[in-house]
Amino acid sequence: CFITKTYNFEHFKKRSRNDAGNKVTVVLGAQWGDEGKGKVVDLLATEADFVCRCQGGNNAGHTVVVDGKEYDFHLLPSGIINPKSVSLIGNGVVIHLPGLFEEGDKNEKKGLKGWEKRLIVSDRAHLVFDFHQVVDGLQETERQAQEGKNIGTTKKGIGPAYSSKASRTGLRVCDLLGDFKDFSARFKNLVRQYQSMYPSLTVDVEDQLKKLKEYSERLRPMVRDGVYYMYEALHGPPKKILVEGANAALLDIDFGTYPFVTSSNCTVGGACTGLGIPPLNIGDVFGVAKAYTTRVGIGAFPTEQLNAVGELLQTRGHEVGVTTGRKRRCGWLDLVIVRYAHMINGFTAIALTKLDILDVLDEIKVGVAYKLNGKRIPHFPANMDVLQKVEVEYETFPGWKTDTSAARKWNDLPAKAQNYIRFIENHIGVPIKWVGVGKSRECMIQMF
Ligand code: GDP
Ligand code: IMO
Ligand code: MG
Repeated sequence: CFITKTYNFEHFKKRSRNDAGNKVTVVLGAQWGDEGKGKVVDLLATEADFVCRCQGGNNAGHTVVVDGKEYDFHLLPSGIINPKSVSLIGNGVVIHLPGLFEEGDKNEKKGLKGWEKRLIVSDRAHLVFDFHQVVDGLQETERQAQEGKNIGTTKKGIGPAYSSKASRTGLRVCDLLGDFKDFSARFKNLVRQYQSMYPSLTVDVEDQLKKLKEYSERLRPMVRDGVYYMYEALHGPPKKILVEGANAALLDIDFGTYPFVTSSNCTVGGACTGLGIPPLNIGDVFGVAKAYTTRVGIGAFPTEQLNAVGELLQTRGHEVGVTTGRKRRCGWLDLVIVRYAHMINGFTAIALTKLDILDVLDEIKVGVAYKLNGKRIPHFPANMDVLQKVEVEYETFPGWKTDTSAARKWNDLPAKAQNYIRFIENHIGVPIKWVGVGKSRECMIQMF
C-alpha cells in the first residue's frame, strides 16, 4: 500500500527560471597567470556595480594603467579604481591584513581615493598571518633541501594559510572581530602548532596580537556577511556584477600543473565557492590569454623558448612579476593549455592580450598539440614527468612586422595579424572578444 502525495513543483520551477537573479560575469586566467586579467577587469569595471575577488590572496599582481598612471593590485579587486562600484573580497580569499592596508595606502598616494568606503570584506574569509609567510619561506627551503627543487612560491603565505583552513585550525575575519580573548587563544594554539613543525619559527605573539587588534578596528566597518551581501546583490534590482579571478587555470590546485600550483581553485568553480553564489547565477565566463605564454616559478612549460625568442618576448613584454619582481619565463602560445582551460571553465569569449609584443617577429609559432612517443594525445597530462616529456606540434605563421599599438579596430590590424587571431579563435572554438595591443585602457580592440 503506497501513500501518494502530490507536490506542486510549479512554484519552484518558476522561481528557478524567473527569479534566478542577476548574472555575474567572471574573468579568469587561461594560462599560468599574468595574462592581463587586471586590464580586462578594469575595462569591464567602468560599467560594473560590484567587482569581487573570490580566491587567492596577495600572491596575485594585477596591473591597471589609467590616464598614464600604473596601479598594481594584489588583494584589492582592480575595480576599486571605479569610484561608482563596490569592491568585495569574498570568503574564498585569504587576507593578509598588513598587506591589504599597505596596498590601499600605497595606491592612495597614487591618487586612489575613498577605497576603504568602497570595500566590503566577507566575514568568512580566512586570515594570513605574518608567520604563515615565514612558514612559506621555510617550506621552500625544506623542499629545496629534500627534493633539490622548490615551487618558487611568492612567499606570501598562501599555501600555509589555505592549509590552516583545510585542517580547520585557521582563523577567519569573523573570529578576529568576535571575542578577542578567544581569538588570542586560538592564535596562540595555531602558532604552537607551526612551531612544533618548524622549531626555528619565532613569533612575537603579544606584538602580533596588538597589531591584529589595531587592524581589526580599521577593518570592522568593511566587514559583512558575504553570502547575504551577494544574495542581495543578485536578487535586488538589475546589477552588473564582475568576478576577478586571480592566478590562473594552470595554477589551480586541482587542475593545474600540480604540485607547481597555487593553493586555491582559480577556475570557474572558485567563483561559486569563494563568494557563496549558485552556479545558476554564473553568466559570461571570459578567459584571458596572452598572445604567447609566460610562467613564473618552477614547473613544466612545453612551449618555453630558452633562446633569443624567449628573451625578446621577456624584454619586449616587460615580463617581470608584479608581486615578486622575478623574470617571467617565456614561450610560444600553447593552445593545448588554453583548450584545457576552456574544458574546465567553459569560456563564453576570450580576451587575447599583448598581441603588440609579437609585432617585430619574422615568424610566429603556436603549439597546437602534444605528442608522446610520436603519437598525439587528446588530453592534458596530469603527471608532471609526462608533461616534461611531451613533444609540441607547432603551426608556423609569418610575422606581420608592423606596429599594431595604434590599432583600435579590427580593420586597423594587418591581415597577417588577423589571420593569427582567427586561427587561435578557431582552434580553441571560442570567440575572441577583445585583442590587446598596449597597456592602457584604450588599447583594447573590441570585436563584437
Ligand atoms: P594579471 O595578473 O593577469 O592581471 O596580469 P599582470 O598585470 O600581472 O601582467 C600583465 C602585464 O601586461 C601588465 O604589465 C599589463 O599592463 C600588461 N598588458 C596587459 N595587456 C597588454 C597588452 O595588450 N599589450 C601590452 N603591451 N601590455 C599589456
Ligand atoms: P596573477 O593573479 C603568476 C605562482 C607562483 C608559484 C606558484 C605558487 O597575477 O596572475 P603561491 O605563492 O601562490 O603559493 O605560488 O604559483 N603564482 C602566480 N604566477 N601570476 C599569479 O597571479 C600567480 N599566483 C601564484 O609564481 O609558481
Ligand atoms: Mg599578475
